[in-house]
Amino acid sequence: MNTLKNDLLLRALRGEPVSRPPVWMMRQAGRYLPQFRKLRDQYSFFTRCETPELAARITLMPVEQIGVDAAILFSDILVVPRAMGLEVQLVDGHGPVLPDPMRSGSDLARIQVPDVTDRLQFVFDAIRLTCSELGGRVPLIGFAGSPWTLLCYMVEGRGSKTFDQAKSFCYRNPEAAAALLEMITRTTIAYLRGQAEAGADCLQVFDSWGGLLGPEDFKTFSLPYLKAIVEALQGICPVILFAKGSWYALEALAASGTRGIGLDWCIDPGKARQWAGKEVCLQGNLDPARLLAPQKEIVRLTREMVHAFGKDRYIANLGHGILPETPVSHARAFVDTVKEMNW
Ligand code: CP3
Repeated sequence: MNTLKNDLLLRALRGEPVSRPPVWMMRQAGRYLPQFRKLRDQYSFFTRCETPELAARITLMPVEQIGVDAAILFSDILVVPRAMGLEVQLVDGHGPVLPDPMRSGSDLARIQVPDVTDRLQFVFDAIRLTCSELGGRVPLIGFAGSPWTLLCYMVEGRGSKTFDQAKSFCYRNPEAAAALLEMITRTTIAYLRGQAEAGADCLQVFDSWGGLLGPEDFKTFSLPYLKAIVEALQGICPVILFAKGSWYALEALAASGTRGIGLDWCIDPGKARQWAGKEVCLQGNLDPARLLAPQKEIVRLTREMVHAFGKDRYIANLGHGILPETPVSHARAFVDTVKEMNW
């Protein structure tokens, strides 16, 4: 194993004092980078995910071009539904499409809890190769979608603002929904353990659609499965839970024993700290659209945000993925501002 030259992220997650907070950006290995767009024209989405050399090359881009304090593996949350037996397509301009989504309890027979070393070995290979190419420059973050967020895509069959079909499936067939969430959870635990074994230093779980659920429904359809994942990784690898829009669940998420909690931009840093408690590391939460503002504004807002969260037990980040239209110089201004702050 490489010793890390920059371990700010891991120190922040352990609650150890740092010289300054670490900074990275959700979806940092993506379309705002011109080099990424070139590769994108050459290779299909899943070819990029399934070819370790390509995934590693893309993962390193923001480390080398923006100077972030952590790499996040280039992959996608939808490799899991694929490994479970559903067809997933990425259609240009439409986002993900699952042509034959799950619509009733009997559809459970169409999916499996796969052997991840068989179906997702390419991810583990990409992690090994990326770690060797990183040579300990910064930690590598692995990730997975939360069971609820994956259910959304597996039932709806496409992106949606409201995921009505997915919710209707859960409300009409709560038992089938629980069985499906259970299968996704078992797959995800094996998958994340495999990522840690391959060399990931930290694991983030994206519950991108958690906020579509009210507090009670979150307790039924998302929280228990997030807790099971955190428990299964206890002592193996630090976890960051990002449940977008689920500010009402901050206290419960902190109680899960997770090391880190990701925040979107709709919550005030002081409130987040109050609800999540003192022990957990908070991550976030600049509105990604704020990176479209003039650079002077980016510097001012980033400083304000970092001061509001404080130096320790904090990871500077955006409140959701960086937007494709973000100028590279603006992404750099965000990262440089955090790195240059004086403590
Ligand atoms: O963070 C990174 O840079 C690492 C790579 C990464 C991708 N997807 C690559 C990707 C990560 C962490 C993801 C997670 C992901 N994928 C989430 C959770 C995070 C979030 O944004 O809420 C979700 C909901 C998905 C599902 C997904 N994949 C969608 C909705 C889309 C299309 C729209 C979009 O955001 O781009 C994808 C495709 C996708 N995944 C792209 C990339 C770079 C763009 C398509 C392409 O490159 O051809």
